[in-house]
Amino acid sequence: MENTIFVLAYFIYVIMKVKLTISLLPVMFIWTIAHAVIPQPRVQSLDAGGCFSPNDETRLVVVCNVPEDKLMLEEYVSQSALGITASESAADNAVILAVVDDVEGITSPEGYVLAVSPAGVNILALSPAGLFYGVQTLLQLYDGTSIPCGTITDEPRFAYRGIMLDVSRHFFDKEHIKKQIDILSRYKINRLHLHLTDAAGWRIDIDGYPRLTEFAAWRPEALWKDWSRNGHRYAEKGSEGAYGGYYTRDDIREIVEYAASRYITVIPEIEMPSHSEEVMAAYPDLGCSKGVSVHGDFCIGNESTFDFIEGVLSEVIEMFPSEYIHIGGDEAAKNHWKSCPLCQERMRNEKLQSVDELQSYMMRRVGDFVASSGRRVIGWDEILDGGAADDAVIMCWRGAERGLKAAAEGYDVIMTPGWYCYFDSYQDAPSTQPEAIGGYLPLSKVYSYNPVPADTPEDVASHIVGVQANLWAEYIPTKEHAEHMLYPRALALAEVAWSDPEVMDYGDFRMRALDAVEDLRTSGVSAFDLAHEQGNRPEAEYPISHLAVGKSVTYGEGGKYFAGYSAGGDEALVDGLRGGWNYSDLRWQGFIGGNGMDAVIDLGRRTKISYVGADFMQICGPEVFMPAGVEIAVSNDGRHFKTIAHIDHEIVKDDEVSFKTFSWSGKTRARYIRYRASIGEFGGFVFTDEIVVK
Ligand code: ACM
Repeated sequence: MENTIFVLAYFIYVIMKVKLTISLLPVMFIWTIAHAVIPQPRVQSLDAGGCFSPNDETRLVVVCNVPEDKLMLEEYVSQSALGITASESAADNAVILAVVDDVEGITSPEGYVLAVSPAGVNILALSPAGLFYGVQTLLQLYDGTSIPCGTITDEPRFAYRGIMLDVSRHFFDKEHIKKQIDILSRYKINRLHLHLTDAAGWRIDIDGYPRLTEFAAWRPEALWKDWSRNGHRYAEKGSEGAYGGYYTRDDIREIVEYAASRYITVIPEIEMPSHSEEVMAAYPDLGCSKGVSVHGDFCIGNESTFDFIEGVLSEVIEMFPSEYIHIGGDEAAKNHWKSCPLCQERMRNEKLQSVDELQSYMMRRVGDFVASSGRRVIGWDEILDGGAADDAVIMCWRGAERGLKAAAEGYDVIMTPGWYCYFDSYQDAPSTQPEAIGGYLPLSKVYSYNPVPADTPEDVASHIVGVQANLWAEYIPTKEHAEHMLYPRALALAEVAWSDPEVMDYGDFRMRALDAVEDLRTSGVSAFDLAHEQGNRPEAEYPISHLAVGKSVTYGEGGKYFAGYSAGGDEALVDGLRGGWNYSDLRWQGFIGGNGMDAVIDLGRRTKISYVGADFMQICGPEVFMPAGVEIAVSNDGRHFKTIAHIDHEIVKDDEVSFKTFSWSGKTRARYIRYRASIGEFGGFVFTDEIVVK
């Protein structure tokens, strides 16, 4: 009892001190070791200097009336670098964590106030999760000897702070998942979304459907790329060379419990109605063509589909306590439904006008089933296409605008736009990196993402529940590679998700991230070596001046750019701006089909010309190829052109990202310049960034 009174008195002292410190220091100060904490806390203030140095006598006191949480926090802190022993009470020389009813400056259950004085440490929060996050900050401030004195008042910007791991394309065992949980929780990530099912392999044991793990979880090729090229075949479990795997019920229990002990909720994703070739391989009757052709869409006309989905989801719901259950919904081909008698009958009976509405029928029906267990569905943003149920949570990947629009319509939204949140993209110069699926997403770009722009109306902003990054694994066959792609970008995402934009600054973050990367690499995490980052394509770093900048451009028959890759429109090829490592920076203009590219620049008057050239890129995965040929021609009247260069090019498919300039040098005079680039035998896109004229 006496001890309890002491502890309470100590809290009052700490709370008073916190209030005093905050009110006396309206200006934000930075800790002496300023670059330590990721994500950046809201308010941090220096006290009178000094530090607390824990020693063998230091005790840990956790005050929390949920015994499981108390025990979890005691275990976590005593096994941490602090290594202090739990006790029911302590005088000074203590680290005290307490859940209280009210903490000044905190409204979120995940917020905390951390106060460090020479006598000890106090963390106050409204819930055990808040204590856990206070502990993370404390551990980041601890340099192995001492913790600087001061006060931090901190709480998250978003309630949902997620990372998705794709364990279908390449399977990663439970130890890898637990390791990532451990790391991610240190940066206050609180959701782990597991993409458990996709064409490349089913990854969770379902009692009612054993072929999913006897067959659909295995394939002859270890590498996704080989599997994909060789016709998407599957293999019997235990057969020679079978690659794959799945989580048993025990594995899932272990992962879920481990995550809970780090205040992370694991969200399972079961894909439907598409991305399910592996299910059709194991249970062919569930597809429209009943196994006659392999495709990945469930037959929505067939009641067995719903028996299957409900059977699987019942078991999934039993295994995962998460409120959210992800039911996919992305990228359905939908074409089989148009000719499938059962799907057509369903559409007639349910008065559905389109295949989008047919998908919507399925997602709503499955959503109702999930809701009957008291859970709530998340779907990729395609679930909006035929109309989504009001309570569905939209995971927005095809552009932030869609997310803001869905939020304006009243949906709860998790933002994960590909340009900022797809960690399967290159994070540095492609020639220095393991092969990636494409894209260029450096740390700075992840960090620049603001899920709720400042001018967003409050009633829209309140529906953006959070932000997530996704690690799709087609090109990521090993655990080390997965960590290389995750870190440090996950740290940037963590700060985007947690910190107030007012306290965010990339230069400052990068310094902290450099320290964090060093720590991660020292502790056996294969993080990308940020210290040796090369950065964007040098050509993209500065504008170029040349004779055509600002002139007008017209496009010939069939040679106009694809609207999705306009790079800003008709003047993009003469705007003086060249593209970076990937067209995802929207500076590269893309041409697909037809005559390829056919652009005519009007210089305004007859001009002396000595050079015309343009850069092209090749990245075969997303079908971006060099041109098969280039023709450069000039004219004085804009009608009669004289060819000055004709360059044929043999396109060679490879695994590299490459750039090539196709140019002419010489002497001529002309008003008009026509630059044509043709598409080769593999089809796809050609991309160019600027026609440079000298
Ligand atoms: C997705 O990238 N298909 C969600």
